[in-house]
Amino acid sequence: MTSFSLNGRDVTVHDDPSTPLLWVIRDTRGLTGTKFGCGAALCGACTLHIDGEPVRSCIVPLAEAEGRSVTTIEGLSEDGSHPVQRAWAELDVPQCGYCQAGQIMSATALLARNPAPTDAQIDEAMSGNLCRCGTYMRIRAAIHRAAELS
Ligand code: FES
Ligand code: FES
Repeated sequence: MTSFSLNGRDVTVHDDPSTPLLWVIRDTRGLTGTKFGCGAALCGACTLHIDGEPVRSCIVPLAEAEGRSVTTIEGLSEDGSHPVQRAWAELDVPQCGYCQAGQIMSATALLARNPAPTDAQIDEAMSGNLCRCGTYMRIRAAIHRAAELS
């Protein structure tokens, strides 16, 4: 049994504690905004926050969530009103969209620790989030825009 806060609500799950957190979030809790890409901490599609820090949930065992606060893309806002989500919509960032939940979760974590990042700081913080559609320039612009909206 593992108990943690998920998007502000206390939850208890009975999955094996070694199960990757991504599977618990998607399959047990039904929150499918967080995506599976590589399963090996190489692409960033599965990025969510634990206690505000971005983590690759495909390699984090459920046990690490015990007593902690987990935030997924669904938890950023009820209605897409988070500044990062608004900036993403305004600049029409996604192409296929598959990587974008992970991109947004990394971007929100960056802006939480650095409210006005430079291009270089953005590139460094986002380097682990791959986009096969090549939306990197729009992602960078949207992070600057989100900084203005915050
Ligand atoms: S699915 Fe987790 S980093 Fe790729
Ligand atoms: S928008 Fe298609 S992989 Fe990033």
